[in-house]
Amino acid sequence: MDSKSWDEKYSTEEFIYTKTENRFVVEYCKNLHGKRAIDLAGGEGRNSVWLAKSGWQVENIDFSEVALAKYLQFAEAEQVAQHCTANCQDATSFIPQSTPVDLGVIAYLQIEENKLQTAIRRLSQHIAPAGHLFGVWHSRENLAGGFGGPRDPEVLPTVETITEALEGTGLEIVVLTNRDGQIQTREGLKPSVTLVLLAKRP
Ligand SMILES: C[S@@+](CC[C@H](N)C(=O)[O-])C[C@H]1O[C@@H](n2cnc3c(N)ncnc32)[C@H](O)[C@@H]1O
Repeated sequence: MDSKSWDEKYSTEEFIYTKTENRFVVEYCKNLHGKRAIDLAGGEGRNSVWLAKSGWQVENIDFSEVALAKYLQFAEAEQVAQHCTANCQDATSFIPQSTPVDLGVIAYLQIEENKLQTAIRRLSQHIAPAGHLFGVWHSRENLAGGFGGPRDPEVLPTVETITEALEGTGLEIVVLTNRDGQIQTREGLKPSVTLVLLAKRP
């Protein structure tokens, strides 16, 4: 989907991805410490706002102007606007407003393999010594019996494609694994496989 399609999708009062922070972001990032974070493809800002409430200065970089406008209003309403900035750019070619950062987050950026690898490498360049990169995606493993997320394998990363993306970045993998879980569907709880990454710059 291009930025225009995302803008159309986000053009509703409702928060498409809710205002509730993602549970994997919380699980892996709650004990990380630092000053500045980038939430790459942060959309309407559910994770950015949670990070800001947790003490981070957050830059949400997303190519949807509509999503970023919703995020800034959300941050204002949650009284963390002074800790939140928006930067409307493409994940494959962005230049951050503030660099380096102590934490980079990529949540559910389901784009073609080569573009995702470029985005990961680009974000990695901005991770400070001792800083972390956290990523979460619908996994390609989810195609075999799992529910939720896109069905196109090209936008579903694997342990191998993420490992390849990190090669040469200087980041060390702390966790890179498929997590079995469940998601709520109209037919009740169904199995779902989520790929999570935590990497660190020594
Ligand atoms: C599934 S949403 C996830 C949003 C947010 N990370 C979350 O977890 O709520 C994917 C986001 O990626 C953004 N996106 C997709 N392709 C992008 C690109 N090439 N550059 C920047 N943002 C992109 C979309 O605008 C959208 O906000």
